Amino acid sequence: MPNRSYMQRAIDLAILGKGFTAPNPLVGAVIVKNDVIIGEGWHKMIGGLHAEREAIASLNESCEGADLYVTLEPCCHFGKQPPCTQAIIDNRIKRVIIGSRDPNPLVAGNGVRMLRNAGVEVIEDFMREECDALNPIFFHYITTGMPYTALKFAETADGKIAAFTGKSKWITNEESRRHVHALRGEYSAVLAGIGTVLADDPLLNCRLENAHQPLRIVVDSHLKLPLTSKLCKTANEYRTLAVYADADESKVRALENIGVSAVRFCGEDGRVDLLALAKYLGDNSISSVLIEGGGEINEAALKSGIVNHVYAYIAPKLLGGSAAKTPVEGQGFASPNEAVKMTLKKTTVFGDDVLLEYDVRSDLYVHRDN
Ligand SMILES: NC(=O)c1ccc[n+]([C@@H]2O[C@H](COP(=O)([O-])OP(=O)(O)OC[C@H]3O[C@@H](n4cnc5c(N)ncnc54)[C@H](OP(=O)(O)O)[C@@H]3O)[C@@H](O)[C@H]2O)c1
Repeated sequence: MPNRSYMQRAIDLAILGKGFTAPNPLVGAVIVKNDVIIGEGWHKMIGGLHAEREAIASLNESCEGADLYVTLEPCCHFGKQPPCTQAIIDNRIKRVIIGSRDPNPLVAGNGVRMLRNAGVEVIEDFMREECDALNPIFFHYITTGMPYTALKFAETADGKIAAFTGKSKWITNEESRRHVHALRGEYSAVLAGIGTVLADDPLLNCRLENAHQPLRIVVDSHLKLPLTSKLCKTANEYRTLAVYADADESKVRALENIGVSAVRFCGEDGRVDLLALAKYLGDNSISSVLIEGGGEINEAALKSGIVNHVYAYIAPKLLGGSAAKTPVEGQGFASPNEAVKMTLKKTTVFGDDVLLEYDVRSDLYVHRDN
């Protein structure tokens, strides 16, 4: 019988790659011989060795006859790296225990087949649920070509994301806010509406040490983004993209001159077309986007059918006020029956704040193809 603790070790190793492997998956691998771990590795960064090859490279002895625990089906095609199946066969590993199946059409069962054809024993779906939980971003991106997209908002217990004055610093506590920085380090891009940028002048970077820095995106139909904003002033340090619908060429050029890229996606309503933007980002290897509001952009993102996940941080405060912004603005749905349906995935407590994580139930969406 395979041993859960070895797969757990492979999962723990996979997590170390967070933020650096996109658009590749997080993968960990452990080689076990005579009930002792003799090699281990993880996919450290895009373009780097895959977990299986890292584990083999870490060996100080032969792995002939050993077990390999790996969180994702080994690849069998030439990408940025040669196929892992070949390394497994060449090194005479006897048995491979796999967590997740790889939905990448280039792999999708072919890795397993290749190993079995070479006489390697393969066990699939071992701790699959735990291994699958590593890679919702990769699974979504590789099967749809669209970035996995999450909404993140911090709200009071009465559902306000800002006071009626527009002030929102700070609704949640420091621990929650540190967690947001960790998320920024995990997502390929962070996106905000121009309303938020004008109100808060945010940096939208990840302020944790040695972290990946996401692409910063501002959705701004008429390029009102001030050249004096923090986003503009730091554009040479952190990649920044302004997305517009209709703007003066001179402003486009002024932004580009200070290092802000600009791209145009005009929707039928004369505002930025978020679905077209998502497709563009997917085509440009951005596999995940964290939308940090505000309420108008959140509503537009939900309506365009691009949202997969929601992070709702709830603080023990009441702000009140009918003019105070809520996480999803606009007219809203006419009845609870029509609401966007979600599944609760996780609850985390940060001091006296609570983070609720939901998956959006895409089967119930007013979907983009409709
Ligand atoms: N607590 C939190 O988690 C949190 C997070 C973020 C923001 N906030 C607060 O929320 C407030 C800002 O929220 P907001 O709702 O006013 O602004 P927003 O959602 O950040 O930005 C809205 C603006 O985006 C532009 N836009 C471009 N394309 C759009 C599209 N397809 N659909 C909708 N808008 C589009 C529109 O202006 P143009 O048409 O001119 O481009 C629109 O007015 C601030 O007070 C901020 O502090 C709170």
